[in-house]
Amino acid sequence: MSENKKSTDTEDTEKDKLWGGRFTESTDAFVEAFTASINFDKRLYEHDIVASKAHAQMLHKVGILAKDEMQDILSGLDEIQQEIEAGTLEWSVQLEDIHMNIEARLTDKIGIAGKKLHTGRSRNDQVATDIRLWLRQQIDYISSEIVRLQQGLLQVAKREADTILPGFTHLQVAQPISFGHHMMAWYEMLKRDFERLQDCRKRVNIMPLGAAALAGTSYPIDRDYTAELLGFECASANSLDSVSDRDFAIEFVSAASLLMMHLSRFSEELVLWTSAQFNFINLPDRFCTGSSIMPQKKNPDVPELIRGKTGRVYGDLMSLLTLMKSQPLAYNKDNQEDKEPLFDTVDTLLGSLRAFADMIPHIETRKDSMRTAAMQGFSTATDLADYLVRKGMPFRDAHEVVGNAVAFGVKTGKDLSEMSLQELQAFSKMIGQDVFEVLTLEGSVAARDHLGGTSAAQVRKRVEEAYINLQNIQANDTL
Ligand code: ARG
Repeated sequence: MSENKKSTDTEDTEKDKLWGGRFTESTDAFVEAFTASINFDKRLYEHDIVASKAHAQMLHKVGILAKDEMQDILSGLDEIQQEIEAGTLEWSVQLEDIHMNIEARLTDKIGIAGKKLHTGRSRNDQVATDIRLWLRQQIDYISSEIVRLQQGLLQVAKREADTILPGFTHLQVAQPISFGHHMMAWYEMLKRDFERLQDCRKRVNIMPLGAAALAGTSYPIDRDYTAELLGFECASANSLDSVSDRDFAIEFVSAASLLMMHLSRFSEELVLWTSAQFNFINLPDRFCTGSSIMPQKKNPDVPELIRGKTGRVYGDLMSLLTLMKSQPLAYNKDNQEDKEPLFDTVDTLLGSLRAFADMIPHIETRKDSMRTAAMQGFSTATDLADYLVRKGMPFRDAHEVVGNAVAFGVKTGKDLSEMSLQELQAFSKMIGQDVFEVLTLEGSVAARDHLGGTSAAQVRKRVEEAYINLQNIQANDTL
């Protein structure tokens, strides 16, 4: 409470505000609620406290705070953290946001020293610092969930390296592939997603604190020291840039959008594969839900929902890009709107990754259905063409010959491997008894035995490399 003489209630109210000094009437109640962010930015409390502690230590180091003042601040902030975690601290909309709620509580507790904490900083650099600290931690959580999902994929890929399913192009049966190879395609996509996040983390991990409102501060602050205390790679180089840009958040949500796009595509496959029409896999009951009207239903709700949630994250990306696009330097209140889309993206991503990481190792393959499907679409037609090329026929001619054989198969309802040698020879005399080796699903898959190919041997090799990659990530403590 201000020590100024109070004449009216209005003045009382405004003097309660940490910025109330120049105001002569109280904020409109609706405006107060409309401009407050405490309902959502309270989520940053831990990082706000950590950053304030580092700031106080730095202020002491440069001689601005006495040792006992710093100590009072540190222990006061610790107590506030406990109060928040115990749910006993009452948030105040009048105090607008997390920064002023914590600062006011500190002053309540420790008096004058609490009022000194804001020396040499502003909420503008404070909030930018809090979000960066928070996002850095979330990137680490997300990264370890990606690794957990990748480990699940490797487990399935190893187990199912010899399982054959049809590979598709245009959702038409194309060529037989290994189920393990298919799982490893998702592993590779997630590997790039992981790398993108690690790269983004470098630009998140830069400290804005010390930029103050926009121009820096006239106190002899030691930003390198604060950055070191907070584990930042370095302090930012330009005060205007530091308080105003949210490109690091946009970059994160872009990487998150790509990751969700991958999960959405993967979800779509799971939805298709669990349908009666494909019947390629079974998801355990605990990952599915039923219908309130149709007793027979078992629905793949988890992948469907993740496919749907992808839209939210794309929406968050649009929100942030649009939020930023017309802002003049430096800080503008618009930036308060950065938090909800960012929080939403992190929550959606963590939930989706968790669901996938829990579910994937428990996929059960239905090998017979996959084989039957692979047999139905003339999936070894390319193998027959390649066989003829090896016998000396130009590829284009071979393509034509096999096309004729397929037309015959469509008419008679026979797969290429089900035709007799005589029937096949009607299309080319070059075809011999040895053709049947290449017309089997196993032969076709095993033949693609080169870097990146679908043979079981290549799949196993890549799985081993991938395990080493994940071990290195964990050993380097990248997470
Ligand atoms: N709640 C604000 C935000 O999220 C904190 C910074 C406010 N700064 C200001 N000058 N009003 O951006």
